[in-house]
Amino acid sequence: MVAGRVRGDAGKVRAQTVLVALGVVAVLAFVFAVVGTEWWAQDAPLDTFDPAGPAARTIMDLVTPVFVVAGLIFLLVEGLIVFIAWRFRDRSGEESEPSSGSSSLPRQTHGHNLLELGWTTIPFLILLGVAVGSVATIFRLEDREPDALRVKVVGQQWWWSYEYDLDGDGFSPDDENPEVVTANELVIPARRQVDLTITSADVIHSFWIPRLNGKKDAVPGRLTSLSLEADEPGRYRGQCTEFCGLSHSRMQMYVVALEEDDFRTWLEKQRDPNAPDERSMTPAQRRGLEVFQSNCTSCHRIAGVNGEDYKGAAQVSGTAPDLTHLMSRDSFAGSIFYLWEGIDSWSGVENYLTKEGLRLNRGALESWLRNPPGMKPMAPDPDRGSRFGRGMPNLGLSEQQIDDLVAYLTTLD
Ligand code: CUA
Repeated sequence: MVAGRVRGDAGKVRAQTVLVALGVVAVLAFVFAVVGTEWWAQDAPLDTFDPAGPAARTIMDLVTPVFVVAGLIFLLVEGLIVFIAWRFRDRSGEESEPSSGSSSLPRQTHGHNLLELGWTTIPFLILLGVAVGSVATIFRLEDREPDALRVKVVGQQWWWSYEYDLDGDGFSPDDENPEVVTANELVIPARRQVDLTITSADVIHSFWIPRLNGKKDAVPGRLTSLSLEADEPGRYRGQCTEFCGLSHSRMQMYVVALEEDDFRTWLEKQRDPNAPDERSMTPAQRRGLEVFQSNCTSCHRIAGVNGEDYKGAAQVSGTAPDLTHLMSRDSFAGSIFYLWEGIDSWSGVENYLTKEGLRLNRGALESWLRNPPGMKPMAPDPDRGSRFGRGMPNLGLSEQQIDDLVAYLTTLD
């Protein structure tokens, strides 16, 4: 009996230690979660809990109550489990219940109508509430405003292309001459709905701007729809969220929301085909144009150089970003490199149109032209040549050609 009590005490101490340790872990996890989101992740660019537009807020309005209810149920169930395990534990070693041996079972019961009805009906009602809220949210997210700006988004390995529907006739198959085509940075007017039509040119990607709306898959051969609207001008980061090959994690994008006037200015400028004016070009820029024409035009388009007719341009082969107004962007190569030095990535977009106070990030641009697969994984074995991979191959340009090409590219404002 004495030995049994000693063993029982040791077991009790061990059980208490485990319980205390579990308690500490639970409290720490809770503290890390709360402090982590509120403090370390305060400026996190991909924060779905920091909605910046109506669609993201609509989702948040569903997430919050569901999370609160789920949290309360979690606390209730876990609390009951811990309480019951403690209250009805095996006390064979304790003197208070000398009659129960370690092999004895508790009193066996079968069926309890009230309890069984309760734990069937209450979850049913909770799930019904969640279902009604979810379906209502889905319908609300499908609302489209008549004056919405329409843009077609095409996912490609590993970047995004955007075609603006300016004449308002949608994206019919015989209308493949959008006046404005850009890449990676989707420029939109703030406080106006943008109606996206999303598809893919190769494999399945997923378009996600966490602060503006949920995600939508980009599926080859299918058109899906997603709306975006930003409350305020700003830069909203996104990330491809469907594994799509080697550089999936490097397939990023931004939504740049501008004031309506600034957006109009931007749009006007994008319509300019940027035809080279050779009289005003420096010799280096002229040489760079030749490098572009002899090396780049089978994949990239500059409207005024190799195709004002988008349908006829090589770009339709769906392989490379339209470069007509490259310098109007802040980033390149799937938005993983800054085109300009001095961008504070999460500051405002006041100088987005002017690039005031920014310096060309020449180093990154030259490194890219020198060896793209070395800057962004595009082929399993880059040495075997580009046909074994996707994306931009190493063109083997000389340093002189790279300098000239960069000189020409800087004219594409
Ligand atoms: Cu595109 Cu992942």
